[in-house]
Amino acid sequence: MCANLLVLAGTSEATAFARAAADAGLAGTVSFAGRVARPLRQPLPRRVGGFGGVEGLRAYLRGQAITHVVDATHPFAAQMSRNAVAACAAEGVPLVALTRPAWDEVPGDDWTRVPDISGAVAALDRAPVSVMLAIGRMHLAEFAGLPQHHYLLRLVDPPREPPPFPRHEVVVDRGPFDPARDRELMEAHGIELVVSKDAGGTGAYAKIAAARAIGLPVIMIDRPPQPGRAEVHDVAGALDWVAHAGTDLGV
Ligand SMILES: NC(=O)c1ccc[n+]([C@@H]2O[C@H](COP(=O)([O-])OP(=O)(O)OC[C@H]3O[C@@H](n4cnc5c(N)ncnc54)[C@H](OP(=O)(O)O)[C@@H]3O)[C@@H](O)[C@H]2O)c1
Repeated sequence: MCANLLVLAGTSEATAFARAAADAGLAGTVSFAGRVARPLRQPLPRRVGGFGGVEGLRAYLRGQAITHVVDATHPFAAQMSRNAVAACAAEGVPLVALTRPAWDEVPGDDWTRVPDISGAVAALDRAPVSVMLAIGRMHLAEFAGLPQHHYLLRLVDPPREPPPFPRHEVVVDRGPFDPARDRELMEAHGIELVVSKDAGGTGAYAKIAAARAIGLPVIMIDRPPQPGRAEVHDVAGALDWVAHAGTDLGV
């Protein structure tokens, strides 16, 4: 039997793994939630949209005869990861998560760690500042009760609805970003504070390095808890896992 992978995507690591898997002659499908209008082209066939919870994913695994699941979702996409663990356990499909370590504070950083989005909202309940709210589009409404700030939003797609802030600017751009250009962006907009998810990895780190270079404080949102599962931290490790997980499947 040949391997037939399901790669749960939404990160640059997922794209890199799909490239390596395709180069190794592995078959599979790359799955996106559909959060961005134009997901990056993938070297393996692509599907878009939710599966319909654990039961939907179980049906998909069976229907597509998936042999391995590689969960390379964003560290904040915890629901998808929980569903994947539950569905794979129920269907007896091996699963590994391709994860990137959380960021650590280094000398020169001025971070306030908060446990979740609500914690970031609470931390912004203060006198007006110019804030780079670099958290994507999905949680902007939770900051709507803080209209005193001027918000700089960086989004992958132009917003479908106007952001819920009286004073804001939108920059449409997608990573990976560059520290020097992020510094220019922050200085041009007079940014005084940065709000970021602890996404880990390199592509989104530019704003953190830029904030450090200018001496700006950062409100850093901790990752949601993830379910217990096998984890690897690089593409080579994920390929090796595919080669050895299960029985005689593999590269
Ligand atoms: N998803 C991403 O690609 C992505 C990328 C960057 C950042 N984030 C951040 O993660 C947080 C949660 O985002 P989220 O709602 O997308 O994740 P989530 O809360 O983990 O997922 C919610 C639902 O979206 C569907 N879904 C998520 N990832 C999927 C994938 N790769 N393939 C197919 N369906 C998928 C699943 O629907 P069903 O239950 O119907 O299967 C899942 O239950 C937000 O803060 C967001 O900004 C997400």
